This record gives sequence, C-alpha cells and structure tokens, in this order.
Amino acid sequence: MLDELIKNLIIVKQDFAQNYTGSAHIQEVIPVSPSNQFPIEQHHLEMLHDFAQKNPIYFNSFEEKIAGIQCTVYEGDINQYWLNSIKHGSSCQPFYPTWIMSAYVMALIAKKLGYKELVDIGSGDGRISFCGNFLGLVSHSIEIDDVLVELQDKIRKTTNQNFNLKCEDALEFDYSQLQLIHPLFFIGGLSQMGGDILAISIIDKINSISNLSNNAGLVFAGTNSKKHLSSNLSNGGWGSIIEKYNLNIVDTVSLPTVWTFDQTIETPYIYTNFN
Ligand SMILES: C[S@@+](CC[C@H](N)C(=O)[O-])C[C@H]1O[C@@H](n2cnc3c(N)ncnc32)[C@H](O)[C@@H]1O
Repeated sequence: MLDELIKNLIIVKQDFAQNYTGSAHIQEVIPVSPSNQFPIEQHHLEMLHDFAQKNPIYFNSFEEKIAGIQCTVYEGDINQYWLNSIKHGSSCQPFYPTWIMSAYVMALIAKKLGYKELVDIGSGDGRISFCGNFLGLVSHSIEIDDVLVELQDKIRKTTNQNFNLKCEDALEFDYSQLQLIHPLFFIGGLSQMGGDILAISIIDKINSISNLSNNAGLVFAGTNSKKHLSSNLSNGGWGSIIEKYNLNIVDTVSLPTVWTFDQTIETPYIYTNFN
C-alpha cells in the first residue's frame, strides 16, 4: 500500500510540476478522495486538507485532475516565514516545508517501523508532528523561530491536534525532559546546508541519555542534486555521518518537497537507527 502511494505521489507531482502555469511562490497537491492509487483512510485525507486549509501560508486552492487523479492544489507564500527563520544565530537551515502528503507518508513509515514517538527537529509549520499526532504517535515539534512556533500553535488549535510544541534551539535543548522511550527523530535540514550540525548535536544528545540510543532512530533529508553534492555523494550527502556514528540504514524513500518542486528528482529521506 505504501509503495503504491509513494509511486503515485511522485507521478502526480511530476505531472503537476510540468504543467503548472500559476505563479505562486509555493504549491502542492493533495488528492480529493481515496482511490486505488491513493489508498488512504478518508479521515486521514480530511486531516491533511484541514491542515492546508487552516494554514495561513496557503492563500488559494482549486481542484484539478492531475495524472488522472482529482486533486486540490494549494498555493501559498512562505517568504516572510523564510526571512524570519534565518535571523537566528544558530539557525541550521531556513524554513522550507516538505509536502503535506510527504509528511504524512514519513509519519506512516515511522508508525510502520514501530516507533511510539516522533520528534521533528526544526519543525517549520509542524506538518510532520501534525501527521504523527493524528496517526497516534506522541509527537514533538522543536523549532527555533518564534513566528513559526506561533503558526504551529494556531494550526494546532484550529485543527484540534495537541502535539507538543517547543520554541527552542535544538542544539541547546535538553531532550531528557521529553521522557522518550522509542522515538524517531526527523532532522529538518540538508547535510550540506547545516543539517549536519543539527544531526551531530542530536546524536550526541541521544547518546548522553541512558538507554535511549538502543531504541531511537533518525531520519535525514538528503539530496541527489549534483549542485549540493561536492565531495560526499553517498546517501544523499549523509554518508560520512552514517559511517562515523555507525548507523544502520533501515529504509530510503524519495518524496516531493517544496525545494525540489522544479526538479525531476525528489528528496530522499533516509531512515536509520543505531547499531
Ligand atoms: C527545512 S525546514 C524543515 C521544516 C519541517 N521539518 C518540514 O519538513 O516541513 C528547517 C526548519 O528548521 C528550523 N531550525 C533551523 N535551525 C534550528 C535550530 N538550531 N533549532 C531548532 N530549529 C531550527 C528552521 O527555522 C526551519 O523551520
């Protein structure tokens, strides 16, 4: 079911990106209803639309048939949030969201792998935590930017999703206070653009909490884009960190993101755990 969903999401994204004639700063699509190509629970789909409709970064939406699937296109603008997100001294990556559908798939995989908690490090508008929460994972958002935290709080309230939200520098935060048992950490940044600093800090912190690493996993957002890859071409740019910390690769899944909208390749998300 998941493989089918991922395959069709990429087909829809590619078709949409090739034929999109609008001029919005960002745009993404969500199927209108479940189908063989998108075998998603009706209620889950409704939650994803609710997230987009209650999220002020989207200012317009319309229905369109894309690659044979009736979808809602959401158009938005993140310029102001992007600018805010880079003003912090220890910002490791500006705000760029993954697609809502991709966040849903990422949280589904977390659940399938048996994790009980999800921690999104650099959580932007909170879409990964939002999806984790309605899928029944205890979900935590860590975000450095107060304006994005305010945005998440607003979405949390209007969608009735009570995921945990912390306005904190992820490099300084004390993760022991979350009382994690079986968590999956999502690292919100490309390795070459500051995500590596986030990842190394989180790995050290996980290792400093007794018994946590045995049960914890990490998901890295990689890139296959040649412009980002200079010396380290393996595992979307995460090869050296995976090797240095002796992590196992459990799964790699390519999904649409805002930053790969114009590209023919998607963003590889690499699921790892500790050896
Ligand atoms: C690429 S965005 C990812 C957003 C979200 N995880 C997603 O996939 O849609 C990276 C986010 O990390 C946040 N960030 C950067 N450095 C951070 C830090 N040191 N502590 C907490 N958040 C940080 C940025 O403000 C931004 O919102």
